[in-house]
Amino acid sequence: MRLPDTVKVVEVGPRDGLQNEPRVITTATKVELIARLGKAGLKVIEATAFVSPQRVPQMADNAALMGAIERLPGVTYPVLTPNLKGLESALAAGAQEVAVFGAASESFSQKNIHCSIANSLKRFEPVMAAARQAGVRVRGYVSCVLGCPYEGNIQPAAVAQTASALFEMGCYEISLGDTTGAGTPEAAKRLIEAVSARVPLDRIAGHYHDTYGMAIANIYASLQCGVAVFDASVAGLGGCPYAPGAAGNAATEDVVYLLNGLGIATGIDLGALIDCSVWISAALGRSPGSKSARARTGRPSPVIEPS
Ligand code: HMG
Ligand code: MG
Repeated sequence: MRLPDTVKVVEVGPRDGLQNEPRVITTATKVELIARLGKAGLKVIEATAFVSPQRVPQMADNAALMGAIERLPGVTYPVLTPNLKGLESALAAGAQEVAVFGAASESFSQKNIHCSIANSLKRFEPVMAAARQAGVRVRGYVSCVLGCPYEGNIQPAAVAQTASALFEMGCYEISLGDTTGAGTPEAAKRLIEAVSARVPLDRIAGHYHDTYGMAIANIYASLQCGVAVFDASVAGLGGCPYAPGAAGNAATEDVVYLLNGLGIATGIDLGALIDCSVWISAALGRSPGSKSARARTGRPSPVIEPS
């Protein structure tokens, strides 16, 4: 199949990237991260999560953060909302796009959001209705699409089931989360084949964690299947508090480097993104987790920009 001409990159660093950080990160640092990502050309920046502060303390400043970010024209700042309480708080804080998150694994659903898959879908219904009334778009995540930290293998049919339920409920895009990062390219292709039988291909996004270094390979495999939306996290930050040992998402700068090399337009300035990666990594007291930032900062080397 011909590769897509353009790809939408959904930056999840400020949420997925930071949610698991043990050290408190100031709201000001998060605000600056979001500003730098916007200036680098990211058009969708997942800003925070309206979840229980007891469960995910790093996201406890959600309302303050939403009040402090500078909203650039043409950029959206979605937030996670697991239930009606989360949605109401998100709307009060000025969120203009939200995301619900379900799973293809019963055990992960229980650990992550304290309910069965079926009950999670029931919980999302009033979220969808209230969001619709407020004119707010809802994205849907499915976790554990290529394996579960508690159950191991997950069948593509189980993923397709949750994905289609979220799509039929009104989610405009379904992001398939390889939460554990255990996926490999052929498995990713089988997954997309199963899900795209029930959700249109142009409504599917790939969300690959990089635990085994397969995220970029999985993105390339997904591109070959026609997927044109990918979630990524600057500097490869992140992981899920309920997937112990899982690494962060594919690093945004590595994804952009891949796409530039394939001649696929993203509108993202790779140099500015790498500067942002180096900056947030220094703020967190570590080296960038991406190959591109290391290559750029280790010694001067040419950066492939779109032609
Ligand atoms: P629950 O325990 O079922 O809810 O939580 P509850 O209704 O029994 O309430 C328990 C307490 O939480 C109450 O407070 C509620 O008020 C409060 P208390 O009376 O005990 O003081 N509460 C809330 N507080 C703030 N915001 C809310 C909210 N809801 C209830 N929205 C809930 C259900 C889902 C909220 C909880 O289990 C939770 O917050 N879980 C954390 C989930 C999470 O953030 N996980 C990480 C993000 S998902 C992810 O990373 C995967 C993804 O990246 C894709 C992939 O990689 O696979 C998206
Ligand atoms: Mg994730």
